[in-house]
Amino acid sequence: MEEAPQPFNFVHSNRRVISAWGGIDKLADLAKESRTKRPMVVMDAFFENGELATRIAGMLYAACGAEPAFHYVPAHEPDTDSVEACAAVFAAAAPDLIVAIGGGSAMDTAKIARLLLSNPGPADAIAGFGKQLKTHASVLIAVPTTAGTGSEVSESAIAGKVGSDIKLIFRSQEMTPQIALLDGSLCVSAPAKVTAASGFDAVTHAVEAYVSKASSVMTDPYAESAMRLLGKWLPVAYKVPTHQAAQSWCLIASCQAAIAFNSANLGLAHAIAAPLGALHHVPHGVANALALPAVTAYNEASLGAKAAVVASAFAAPTAAMGLSKLRLALDLDLSLDNFVPTDDARERLAQAAMKSGQVRMNPRLATIADMRAILESMRVPTGGASPELAI
Ligand SMILES: [Fe+2]
Repeated sequence: MEEAPQPFNFVHSNRRVISAWGGIDKLADLAKESRTKRPMVVMDAFFENGELATRIAGMLYAACGAEPAFHYVPAHEPDTDSVEACAAVFAAAAPDLIVAIGGGSAMDTAKIARLLLSNPGPADAIAGFGKQLKTHASVLIAVPTTAGTGSEVSESAIAGKVGSDIKLIFRSQEMTPQIALLDGSLCVSAPAKVTAASGFDAVTHAVEAYVSKASSVMTDPYAESAMRLLGKWLPVAYKVPTHQAAQSWCLIASCQAAIAFNSANLGLAHAIAAPLGALHHVPHGVANALALPAVTAYNEASLGAKAAVVASAFAAPTAAMGLSKLRLALDLDLSLDNFVPTDDARERLAQAAMKSGQVRMNPRLATIADMRAILESMRVPTGGASPELAI
């Protein structure tokens, strides 16, 4: 490293990450440390009245001498109604400790609802970037039950605006959970399809953060580690859900990828995935699996020395081929036509994707013609080969 360092802007608003198999049991000590009197638990509806909820209630009661209040978030992705419903429960319970357990939906809901306590108003009033939002005094502990969004350490959250196709992006350092608790044993019960799709979201975070124009010497080590760990362990977690090493490493990788994208941002795959979710209700990880190999084939010549690093992380001769092979191993080698069946709908998708702020973070600056070619390529499952691009 003989050259002077490139300028960078690195943010790190999470203050503690704890990883242990069975680490959910540490909640008791964490609650005691924060001297909480009014604990509250936000969980995916998937866990409603299950063994995990009972265990957590018992632990928090023993630690604080108070029964925790529970709020279960609906199975669909958060929207302005569901986050405001959670905020109303928070307002009544006045929690000083919030434990958010689940996938991205539960964590994002808790993050937005908590900020609505200190910044009252409809949810869409606090959406967007660069808002000066007031912090809330409660401690937020996020416990992911799938490796994917990295919401446990990210300073952003997403919720749909009810009655529209708009996905609101919330971004504030005040929203980041103070503590992320990574416990791979909680991922074992996830359906394999969810492990695959949410895992591919983490893969996309890692790759897009690694190649982003805003990547830096601070984000690259996190992003590269996340790519290598997911390349090795995600197919194992998919095939053998009880595999302790695979589940644990995938959770760590997902967390690392989010630490990287907090600063490095993302790219064209996420620019395409957002309207695929908003307009066509494609699950976020599936949308990324459709987009990332074609986007990477498009980017590959612009990646310089990083192209070989991505290829090696996914054990293939080229980066695009590595991602294509991984997608196939996860049974996510699908056609865009399954979700976006007409030329008109595809054109609307291209126009919507070009409006994303992530377009300018992508290593190669895409024109609308490039975007159309990427979407055209996404119509053809690749069987593990590199996607064909007519550009
Ligand atoms: Fe994502």
